[in-house]
Amino acid sequence: MIWPKLCLIAASAQLATAQTNYSQYVNPFIGSEGPIAGYAYGGGDIFVGGAVPFGVVKLGIDTWEDRIDIATLNGGYTPNGVVTGVSMMHESGTGGCPKYGVVSQMPLASVASPVNILNDTTYWQKRVGTDEATVGYFHTDLEDGISISLAGARHAGIMQYDFPPGAEQHVLVDVSHFLPDPPGGFCTQYYVDGSINISDDGKNYTGYGTYAGGFNLGAPYTVYFCGEFDTAAVEAKTFTGQNTTRIVNGPPPQPTFGGNSAQAGSEGYRVGALFSWGAPNTSSEASIVSSRVGISFISKEKACAFKDSEISSWDQQETVKAAQDEWNRDIFSTIQVDTGPEANQTLLTLLYSSLYFMHLMPSDRTGENPLWERDTFRNTFSLSHLIQPKAYESQIRGLIDIWRHQGFMPDGRSGNDNGLTQGGSNADNVLADAYVKGLRGAIDWQDGYAAMVKDAEVSTNGSNKEGRGALDDWLTYGYLTLNSERSISRTVEYSANDFALSQVAKGEKPEDVEKYLKRSAGWQLLWDPNVPSVNTTPIFKGFLTPRSADGTFNSSDYNPATCGVCSWPSITYEGTPFEYSFVIPHDVETLIGLMGDSDGFESRLDYIFLPNTSQTNLGANGVGITSIMNIGNEPDFATPYLYNYINKQWKSVNQSRALGNQYFRNAPFGVPGNSDSGALNSWFIWQMLGMYPIVSQPVYLLGSPWFSDINMTVNGNSTLRITADGLGKETYFVQSVKINGAAWEQNWFGHDSPEQRLMVDGGTIEFVLGSDPVEWERGDVPPSPGHVILNGTGKYRV
Ligand SMILES: *[C@@H]1O[C@H](CO)[C@@H](O)[C@H](O)[C@H]1NC(C)=O
Ligand SMILES: *[C@@H]1O[C@H](CO)[C@@H](O)[C@H](O)[C@H]1NC(C)=O
Ligand SMILES: *[C@@H]1O[C@H](CO)[C@@H](O)[C@H](O)[C@H]1NC(C)=O
Ligand SMILES: *[C@@H]1O[C@H](CO)[C@@H](O)[C@H](O)[C@H]1NC(C)=O
Ligand SMILES: *[C@@H]1O[C@H](CO)[C@@H](O)[C@H](O)[C@H]1NC(C)=O
Ligand SMILES: *[C@@H]1O[C@H](CO)[C@@H](O)[C@H](O)[C@H]1NC(C)=O
Ligand SMILES: *[C@@H]1O[C@H](CO)[C@@H](O)[C@H](O)[C@H]1NC(C)=O
Ligand SMILES: *[C@@H]1O[C@H](CO)[C@@H](O)[C@H](O)[C@H]1NC(C)=O
Ligand SMILES: *[C@@H]1O[C@H](CO)[C@@H](O)[C@H](O)[C@H]1NC(C)=O
Ligand SMILES: *[C@@H]1O[C@H](CO)[C@@H](O)[C@H](O)[C@H]1NC(C)=O
Ligand SMILES: *[C@@H]1O[C@H](CO)[C@@H](O)[C@H](O)[C@H]1NC(C)=O
Ligand SMILES: *[C@@H]1O[C@H](CO)[C@@H](O)[C@H](O)[C@H]1NC(C)=O
Repeated sequence: MIWPKLCLIAASAQLATAQTNYSQYVNPFIGSEGPIAGYAYGGGDIFVGGAVPFGVVKLGIDTWEDRIDIATLNGGYTPNGVVTGVSMMHESGTGGCPKYGVVSQMPLASVASPVNILNDTTYWQKRVGTDEATVGYFHTDLEDGISISLAGARHAGIMQYDFPPGAEQHVLVDVSHFLPDPPGGFCTQYYVDGSINISDDGKNYTGYGTYAGGFNLGAPYTVYFCGEFDTAAVEAKTFTGQNTTRIVNGPPPQPTFGGNSAQAGSEGYRVGALFSWGAPNTSSEASIVSSRVGISFISKEKACAFKDSEISSWDQQETVKAAQDEWNRDIFSTIQVDTGPEANQTLLTLLYSSLYFMHLMPSDRTGENPLWERDTFRNTFSLSHLIQPKAYESQIRGLIDIWRHQGFMPDGRSGNDNGLTQGGSNADNVLADAYVKGLRGAIDWQDGYAAMVKDAEVSTNGSNKEGRGALDDWLTYGYLTLNSERSISRTVEYSANDFALSQVAKGEKPEDVEKYLKRSAGWQLLWDPNVPSVNTTPIFKGFLTPRSADGTFNSSDYNPATCGVCSWPSITYEGTPFEYSFVIPHDVETLIGLMGDSDGFESRLDYIFLPNTSQTNLGANGVGITSIMNIGNEPDFATPYLYNYINKQWKSVNQSRALGNQYFRNAPFGVPGNSDSGALNSWFIWQMLGMYPIVSQPVYLLGSPWFSDINMTVNGNSTLRITADGLGKETYFVQSVKINGAAWEQNWFGHDSPEQRLMVDGGTIEFVLGSDPVEWERGDVPPSPGHVILNGTGKYRV
C-alpha cells in the first residue's frame, strides 16, 4: 500500500553552504534483516549496493538462501545468502515477490566439473568476512577467494573482481539469470527471450534479455545491455542451453558453446557468454578484472552510450565519488541539521539513511520509455511524492502519460507494466495532493482529471491490475458489498479516492464536486453503530462491518480485530477493520462523532497502542508488533497523529515518538517491515521533522522535532527552518509554537494559507519543548474538508 507516503517537501536546490559529506552518515544495511537473525523476512526488503538517487541501475549481488520461505530475495541481497550473480537491476523495499536481478555477471575461479554454467547451484559462493557498503559502493568476499566490488551510476555500473593469486579467471554472463522465487510462487519471474554478441577482440559484448512476471505479474519487458572488460579475454564464447530455471526434471542440462553470437531463437534457449583469462603465469600473481556495463530500455547503442558517458574511467572510486556527490548535493543537503561534534551520531545516521532509502525508488526513466516517446519520469512504484519539485512534477506527468497511452494510471508499476492494485486507485490521491498544493507547472490538469474520472467511472470488470476492481458495487450501492473481496478496505480507499476527485474537480470541473464529495462518504454506509469489539477491555461499539447488497450487515461472529489472512480475498487488506475504521482522513469529524465524540475517540485510540491488543497475525507486515496499531504498514501511518483532531497534540507526540524510538533503529533490523519503496523511511523522516502531512489536503499536523535546528529546502529555493528550544531526551512535549515569529495556537498549519506560506516561501517554525505534557493548542482542530452527513442508513444511490 502506498498512498499515505505523501508529500515530503524536499527540494532540488542546495542551501548555500559548503557541501557537507552527509554520505558518511548513511548505513546502507538498515532494513536488510528481519527479526530472525540472518534472514531478510519481515525486514525492509531493501536493496544493498551501488546506486544514484532514482537510479535505473541498482548494482548489487543476487543471493539464494535456504529456508527460502523466509529468505525474501526481493532486493537481491540477503544477510547470509550465497551469491548467484551480480546484476544491474533491483527493486528496493517492495514486498510480495522478487522482481529483476537481471543483466548479470558472475566471476568464477573455475568452470571445470562439477560447475555447470546452466545450474547456478554448482557455482554459487558463500560470502566470507563482513560485507562493506557506503553510498554508491558495495564490497563482498567470496569463499573461492574472489572479491567483488561494485559501484553504480544512473544507467551503468562498474564491477571489479579481485581474483586470488594463481586462480583461473572467468566471468560468466548469463542473460537468462533473474531473481528466483520459492517454487510454486504465484508471481515468479521468467525468462522469455535473449541474445548476446561478443566483439571479435573478446573485450565487449552487447545484447538483450526479455523477462516477465515478478511481483507485479508484469508483461514481458526487454532490457538491452552493453558490457566491456578492461582487458580482452583470452577466450570468449557464447553458450545456449535448455530453458530451465532452478528446477528441471530429467538429466542435468548441458550448455552448448558457440562462437560470437547466440540467440534464444524459437527454442527459447537460455543464452550467455563465458569470458576467460586463464590463470596468471606465476602462482603468486593476483589479478583484477574490471567491467563496465550500461543498460537501456531502447537499444544496445543507448546502453553503450550510457556506459561510455556515465563511467568514463576504469577507476571505480571515481564512480563512487560521483554518486556520493550527487546524493549529498541533490538529496541529503535538502534537510540540514547540525553535524558538529556535539551532534548525536545515531540520529544523524537515522535521518540520512532514511533519506537514502526514500530515494532509491522510483527509478527515473526519463528518455528511456520504450512504449511511447515523451520525456517522462516513470514510477516503478508510482506514488512516491517525497521528492524535489522538478522530479515530482514529472512523476505526475508520468502518471498521466501512462493513462494516456495505456488506459489507466498505474499502481505498483514495474518493468514498464502496471501492477497490482491492493486497494483503491491511489494515483488519484497523488494527483489531488499535488493539485491542492498548487502544483500546476507543465501538467495538463484537464487530462489529469480525465484520468481520475476514468478510475472513478470505468469498470475494470473485477481486475486487480488497475482502476477500481469493484467499481460496479461502488456505483450501485455506494459501498462494496460483502460479495466483493476486500470490501471494507476498498470501501475506505474508494471513499478517499472520490474525495480526491472532488478536490481536483473544484478547479477543473466544478459541477462534479458535489457528486464526488457525496461518494466520498460511502464508508459511512459500512458503519454499523451497534457492532461491538470482541475480547477488548473496554468494549467499543461501532465499526466498519461487512454489508450485503440488500443493506443488512453481517455481524454474526464478527470480530473487527481480525481479518483472516488479511489479504486479497479477505474483508480487509494487510490490516484489520479495527485499524481501517480510523482511516478516514477527509472526514475525521464524522468519524469522531461515530466513535462517541472526543472521549470515545480518545479512549479507542489509546487502546490500539497498548501492547498485546492485536488479535491477528499480519505475517511479514507486522512482525513483532503486538498492538492493533501497526506502524509496519501504511494503513495506520496517520493514526498516531489523530489526537490532533481533538486538540490533544501531546498524545500524538507521545505515541508517534514512542513508535519512532521502538521500531526505527540504526541496525539491520531497523525498520518494522518492508519499507515499501521507502514509505516507512519517509514516515520516520516526517516524525523527525516534527510534522505530518494529511493526504490530498494542503494541511500538516504539528508533531515535535528530533533535532534542535533543521533547515529544509522547500519549493526549490526556499528554506523552512524548524527550531526546537529545550529539546532533550525527556523534554519533547510541545509547550508553545511560533510560526514566522508570531504565536501559533493551532496544532496544524496550511501549505500556503493566507496567514503563512511556509511550504512555498519558506519561513520558520519555532517550537518550545519541555517535559510536561500540556494541552497547549487552542482553536480550530485540523479540517475535515470531506465532511458529509448521509441521510438514513438505507441503500444509497448517487
Ligand atoms: C564521504 O563519506 C563517504 C562515506 O563514509 C566516504 O566513502 C567518502 O570518502 C567521503 N568523501 C569525502 C570527500 O570525504
Ligand atoms: C569496445 O568498446 C570500446 C568502448 O566503447 C570501444 O572503444 C571499442 O571500439 C569496442 N570494441 C569493439 C571491438 O567493438
Ligand atoms: C548479433 O550479431 C548478429 C550477426 O552478426 C546480428 O544479426 C544480430 O542482430 C546481433 N544481435 C545483437 C543483439 O546485437
Ligand atoms: C544442479 O546442481 C545440483 C548440485 O549442485 C543438483 O543437485 C541439481 O540436480 C542440479 N539441477 C539440475 C537442473 O541439473
Ligand atoms: C521458459 O520456461 C518458462 C516456464 O516454463 C516459460 O514461461 C518461458 O516462456 C520459457 N522461455 C522461453 C524463452 O521459452
Ligand atoms: C604469461 O605467459 C604468456 C605466454 O607464455 C606471455 O605471453 C605473457 O606475456 C605472460 N604474462 C605475464 C604477465 O608475464
Ligand atoms: C540554518 O540556517 C540559519 C540561517 O542561515 C543558520 O544560521 C543556521 O546555522 C542553520 N542551521 C543548520 C543546522 O544548518
Ligand atoms: C542519541 O540518539 C539515540 C536515538 O534516539 C539515543 O538512543 C541515544 O541515547 C542518544 N545519545 C545521546 C548521547 O543522547
Ligand atoms: C469490461 O467489460 C465490458 C463488457 O465486456 C467491456 O466492454 C469493457 O471494455 C471492459 N472494461 C475493461 C476496462 O476492460
Ligand atoms: C457472515 O459472516 C459469517 C461469519 O463471519 C460468515 O461465516 C458468513 O459466510 C457470512 N455471510 C455472508 C453472506 O457473507
Ligand atoms: C525560486 O524558484 C522559483 C521557481 O523556480 C522562481 O520563480 C523564483 O524566481 C526563484 N526565486 C529566487 C529568489 O531564486
Ligand atoms: C438530507 O437531509 C436534508 C435535511 O433533511 C435534506 O435537505 C436533503 O435533501 C437530504 N438529502 C438527501 C440526499 O436525501
